Amino acid sequence: MNKEFITNNHKETQKLGELLALELRGGEVLCLDGELGAGKTTFTQGLLQGLGAKGPYTSPTFLIMKEYETKISSATADKFQISNKIKKVYHIDAYRIEAQDLLNLGWEEIIADPKNIIIVEWSERIKKILPKEAVRIKFEWLDENQRRITLEA
Ligand SMILES: Nc1ncnc2c1ncn2[C@@H]1O[C@H](COP(=O)(O)OP(=O)(O)O)[C@@H](O)[C@H]1O
Ligand SMILES: [Mg+2]
Repeated sequence: MNKEFITNNHKETQKLGELLALELRGGEVLCLDGELGAGKTTFTQGLLQGLGAKGPYTSPTFLIMKEYETKISSATADKFQISNKIKKVYHIDAYRIEAQDLLNLGWEEIIADPKNIIIVEWSERIKKILPKEAVRIKFEWLDENQRRITLEA
């Protein structure tokens, strides 16, 4: 069943990303789709924060893929009963790239490694290389400050 959330400002969207981070076990590919300004990057910032990725969280617009190491303390891992095994997060903005660009960077190995989390904005553009178990998150602009965010299942 889909889970739908309405956020009323960018902080709420970040917070939602942060909360989702706590649900991740490692090896997930998260697909973020929705028009420009819908909140994909904002949500990613929360995810990165929640995963303990070391900043700064610059946009990967001019990079194909931005790689972060995560650092979740044992205390946090215990508190939320999450494992410490996520080691890297990859943030991809597929708006200007082709699936082949990712294949050239070792995509298959990256998505096969359970120590990694992969976040893809504009995943529609590379759908032919997405694993079928990828997590799909849809972003919709409702008004200037409201967004509908749907976790598809
Ligand atoms: N509820 C909200 N959630 C996310 N962003 C919001 C929200 N309300 C306003 N905004 C603004 O909308 C813009 C979203 O931009 P961004 O996250 O870069 O979108 P995308 O990556 O989908 O293009 C930001 O300027 C942000 O401040
Ligand atoms: Mg973006």
